[in-house]
Order: sequence, then C-alpha cells, then structure tokens
Amino acid sequence: MLSRKLAEKDLEEKVEALMAQMTLEEKIGQMSQVRHFDDISPEDIKTKFIGSVIHTQGPLPGKNAEEWQAKFIELQKQALSTRLRIPLLFGVDAVHGQNTYEGATIFPHNIGLGATGNPELVEKAAAITAIESKATGFNWVFSPCVAIPMNEKWGRVYEAFSESTELTAKLAHASVLGHQGSKGNPGVLATAKHFIGDGATDFGVEGGNTTLNQEEILERLLPPYQAAIEAGVASIMASFNTLDGIPMHAHKAMITDLLKVKLDFDGIVVSDWKAYSRFGQNDIINAGIDMVMAVDGDLDAFQEGVRTGVLDGTIPEERINDAVRRILKQKFRFALFENPFPDKSLISKIGIPEHRSVARQAVRESLVLLKNENQALPLKKDSKIVVVGPFADNSGLQSGGWTVNWQGTKENYQGATTILEGIKKFSNHEVKFDPDGQAEVEDVDVAVVVVGEEPYAEFFGDIGGEMNLFQLTLSETHQQYINTYTEKGIKTVVVLISGRPLVTTPQIEQSDAFVAAWLPGSEGDGVAEVLFGLFDFKGKLPHSWPKSVEDFKGKFGPNFWDDSIEPLFPFGYGLNYQKSKST
Ligand code: BGC
Repeated sequence: MLSRKLAEKDLEEKVEALMAQMTLEEKIGQMSQVRHFDDISPEDIKTKFIGSVIHTQGPLPGKNAEEWQAKFIELQKQALSTRLRIPLLFGVDAVHGQNTYEGATIFPHNIGLGATGNPELVEKAAAITAIESKATGFNWVFSPCVAIPMNEKWGRVYEAFSESTELTAKLAHASVLGHQGSKGNPGVLATAKHFIGDGATDFGVEGGNTTLNQEEILERLLPPYQAAIEAGVASIMASFNTLDGIPMHAHKAMITDLLKVKLDFDGIVVSDWKAYSRFGQNDIINAGIDMVMAVDGDLDAFQEGVRTGVLDGTIPEERINDAVRRILKQKFRFALFENPFPDKSLISKIGIPEHRSVARQAVRESLVLLKNENQALPLKKDSKIVVVGPFADNSGLQSGGWTVNWQGTKENYQGATTILEGIKKFSNHEVKFDPDGQAEVEDVDVAVVVVGEEPYAEFFGDIGGEMNLFQLTLSETHQQYINTYTEKGIKTVVVLISGRPLVTTPQIEQSDAFVAAWLPGSEGDGVAEVLFGLFDFKGKLPHSWPKSVEDFKGKFGPNFWDDSIEPLFPFGYGLNYQKSKST
C-alpha cells in the first residue's frame, strides 16, 4: 500500500513537472487522437503535437506485423522529436483478440465469454489480446465493452458480456486485469465502453435515447464501470446515445460529477468517433471528455475550437489541465516514456498454438446446449454425418463483426479453423458437406445444420431502424435447411451462430439438438470437440432467450430485469451431457 502511494506520488510529480512546461497548443495536441492515414501526415504528429493515433477500418499500416510496427515507429519518432518528447498512444479496436490483424488469435465475442461465466479465462484471453496487440504496434485497446444490452434488436449485443449486471461486472474486472497486465509487465491500456446506456436505449437503437431513470442507471448499468475502475482501467469511452435527450458526450453530471468525482476515476475519458462535430463541440470538453477522436476532418476544427474556447474563457483552463494530466498520467503509468517503441520479439507470438488453445477453450466453454433429445449428441465417431450450410465452412461467417474488417468478413481468413474442419478431425467416416441445403445426400445418420446471422457491426446490425438488414428470426433459407433434413426424418443437430439470442422456437421444436454457439472466432474445432463429447457443455445463457417476435413490442426484449415477458429459456439456462438437464 505504502509503495503504491509512493509510486502514485512519483507519477504525479512527473506529470506536474511536464505540465509546467507545456504551452496551450501542446496541451490541446495531447488531447487529439487521429488516424494514421487521411487525418494527418507524419509531420503533423510533430507540428500539431498529437497525443494519440488510432487504427480501425481503412488502409492497413502495412502488409505484415513488421510493417505495422515500422509505421508506428515512424510516427512515434515524430512525437519524440518534439520539444517535450511526449510519446504517442496507439489505440486499436481489439475487441475479441487483435481482430484488425489477419492471422491473430480471434476469441469468441464477449457474449460467448459471458456464456462461459469464467473470469480466469476472460483474464487469460485479454492478456493474449494485449500481447498480440503489442506485437502489432499498439499500447491501447478499446475494449472491453461493458454494456448491459436490454434489447436484442441492438446491433452490438454481442460486444457485451451479458444482460446481467453482476456477471458483466465480474468479467469486466477480469478483462481489465488481463489487458493491463501486472506490475513490471504493463500490458496495454484497456477501455471500458461506452459510458453509459449504450445497450439500454429505447427499442435497442444504436446511438438512440436512454430513458431509464437515474436509479435504474445506477443499479443496472453502472456496476461494471465501478468494477473496471477497481481493476484500474486506464480509460473509459463515452457513448453515442443520449440520456433523456442529452448527448452522453456532453453530459457533465455523468462524466464529471459521477465518473470522475464520485467514482474517483483517474484515467482518460476518450470520446467516440468524430464526437467533436457530432455532439456539441466545446460542450463535450466542458462535460469532461479528455481525449477526442478527432477523425474524418475534425482535427483542425477541434484544435482551433478548443484554443478559441480557452482564450475567450468558455473553456476553463483547469479543464484542459485536468484532461492533459490524465493523459500524461497513463503514459507514465504504462511506461511509454521508457518504452515508446513496440517490441519486435513479440511478433513471433501472433496466433501461436498456445494462444489458440486458450481461444479453443473459450469456444468450448461458451457453447450453450438448449436441447438434446433422441441421443442426437454427442456425435459418434462412427456415425455418418452430413454438415449443412455455408456457415459450417466459413471462418469469417463464424466470427461476426470486428473480424479482419469493421463489418467482419464472409470469407475464410488466415489461421482460422472452420466448424466443418473441426468435425472432420474427429469423425471416422468421410464427412459429407451440403453447403446449400440441397439434401442430395444418401445414407446419413445425422445432420449438423449450421445456421446464423451474417456479420455486422454497430448500427448495421440494428433490427429495424435506419439500416434494417437483420431480423429477429432465422432467414427463410436457413429455416429451410433445417426443414429439409427434419422432413427427411434425419436426426438434426442445429448449431446457431449469432450475435444475440434469436427467436428460434419452431426450429428448437423441430430439431433433436440445438446449440447456441454465439460468435466463436477463429477456433472452429472448439465447437466440434464438444459436439463429439470430448468435453462437456459448460455454457450458460448470458441472456434470456426470447420465445416470440411479440416479446419485442416494448422498449426492451425479455430480459433479466423484467419479469413481465416470459422468455423461452431464462438467463443462466444450459444443459450438459452429465445430467442432460439444466444445472
Ligand atoms: C465505436 C467504438 C470504437 C470506435 C473506434 C466507434 O464507431 O462506437 O466502439 O471504439 O468507433 O473505431
């Protein structure tokens, strides 16, 4: 405790010494986060005193990890050539592994980790994500999402662990610890996002309005943030939604009074995408945002606007000092001044078998068995198996959004194993594959039909609303795959790949076994290992499972917090082989 206090004092002294030398332009520079392309030229890092660089959708920093590191080394050198030599933070949306780098280990999305309910595993997965993120040049990840999704129509349900506040808080804590490492091995800065109410907007609209009252917000949505703060989370990202009509980015009572003062959060409050021009310009700074994603043409307006605001007194200078103090503190805490450059020796760790084996364990533990009759499962090595549907042999489709690309990919990607490949490993027979559900196969004992949702991210995945690309039920085509096999009287095991529970009541009734596999990521053989009974099912529903589309008439779907809508299966449900009943 004493040494922690001393370390804290030492940190503060270093921060103050640096602050004392900084001009207003240098301070505003520290508050600026830009992309490595489009927003800046390498020289701008120096002339505009940039504090952080983000990589997300868009041109890659290079062809391989060596080139990614080289790109960020080049930019870091620019930052270190400034008068005060303050290093850059490099941030990335590594939300289920370092998913922006093809070839990295891709873990199940958080909803699957929620189903595991296993904090040790979540911590390990986060630690591996930190290593692979560092290997590609980053020192900051925009993860974990600690939202409490209250309506499955929201396109980001899968980015969050669960609709249970308690489970989310437990896993958020573990995730932050894993990402941020322990003393001597500082890991990367983690980000709890999106503060607050992102998953609890009326009707599940991304960036919509949250009308929960203050008491409900504190009880249902806040505890995961408290858990993340207790774990020492370095940053918290503000959310796109409004709270009773006030944009969260401009919500001083929530960001400053609650988060910074009452909860004593001493890290960086980072804005979300292009927030300066979207949510009220200097209002967001006055509300307490410390670092701004000044992307897509926002940089100059942001830097100039804040400068003018300070000079004309509409932004108190102390607000700028608070922001910069927080940013510098994390830069010192994560030893960026000592180690500003990426470690080349980590490159060889990307996607290694040890990492993949943790991801495979996570896949196994995330699978939730909703039905198992007629001894459909476990599959027998000697059974004649047909695997059905394009999702069965496509690692892109099994991984969801935020995989290789922002909106995911519908192609196989490097290093990943598909579910079909996994099944082939364990069967003694030649496994048949029926990608289009034509059922022109003879002589089979069991069909494993893999159905699901195509990848999506953010508002693209909202059901209804602006894009309206998705639905609460399976597509007609996927329903047909199941019909075709059940009508032939072939034993049918359904594996559902989805970012949320879907209304699948008829399909659950029709099938002999039904498995919710969420978005497993790169290790498809983890699914196969459990289907063959090499491991038992362990996963428990992290969300209540809806029984009908009617369940979604109101603001929220059936969930943990509302007993007025009876779900098909409650939160926490999950069968296993041992008992073949819910435990
Ligand atoms: C998302 C964030 C993400 C950011 C940077 C935003 O659109 O809401 O979750 O971290 O983009 O890519």
